[in-house]
Amino acid sequence: MTAQVRDIFNDLSYYSLFDVAEKARWLMRDVDWEHIDKSMVTPALIEMVKTITFGELTTYSATRSFMEMFEDDIDFTQWLAVWLYEETKHPHALTKWLAMNGVQLSGQYLMEGRTITPMTKSRTEMLTFNVISEIVAGNMYLATSESVSEPVLKDITAKLAKDEMRHSVGFENYTRRTIAEAADPDYEKTIVLRSAWVFLQGDQFINHPVFETVRNLNAILGDTVIKKIRKQIVSRIGKLAGVDIPEPEQIYAVYSQFKADYRAKRKTTPSKHADMAAAAAM
Ligand SMILES: [Fe+2]
Ligand SMILES: [Fe+2]
Repeated sequence: MTAQVRDIFNDLSYYSLFDVAEKARWLMRDVDWEHIDKSMVTPALIEMVKTITFGELTTYSATRSFMEMFEDDIDFTQWLAVWLYEETKHPHALTKWLAMNGVQLSGQYLMEGRTITPMTKSRTEMLTFNVISEIVAGNMYLATSESVSEPVLKDITAKLAKDEMRHSVGFENYTRRTIAEAADPDYEKTIVLRSAWVFLQGDQFINHPVFETVRNLNAILGDTVIKKIRKQIVSRIGKLAGVDIPEPEQIYAVYSQFKADYRAKRKTTPSKHADMAAAAAM
């Protein structure tokens, strides 16, 4: 991709995504820290904020994996630098809210929160999981913001919800581009659908930190939010793969049909991907 770029400013999406990010950006000083209503801060609320904070600590490890995997991607890696900054502000704001309520978090807590399980070697899969995780995080913060009464936490989580939704659009942009530039875009689309299926079929295989957080908050979020998240995921994933997924429960059927069509097509017209795989095997 890099070799084809003649004009980085006009050819890379990073520069326009940066403008969108700057317009949407909130500052730590925009939060009305002096007006935390301590009468509304309960031990249960503290525990919930600690759970969410812990789930936000993986950005460093995730960024390191992304930077390694996409080291030749001059567009995505620049966007990632901004993502790292914005994501670091999320646990920052929550940690400050906790500190102002007398709760300390240790260095060990921070280090433990950075642990991630390497999941995949596929660029498309890695990006797709992040589209999904940002949608999940956005909805989780929105639901939290709507359900909590403490005004400062309400404001923080509303801000974070907007960040996460914007991030999902950024990751979606890079997933779409990665698919388009792949040797075999249809093959990459099967990966997109498979990733969504893996997520939606149940959560037992997923180690992604955001999903872990949602698992821990399931009781608070409730079925309606979970249903809404699943619907949004299939709608966005369907658009990425160029297929219609009417209901989340149909993801497997859609994925298997897509894969079967892909294989049938490959038999008649061997793809560049297949050619490359064959060449690599020789
Ligand atoms: Fe976040
Ligand atoms: Fe995010």
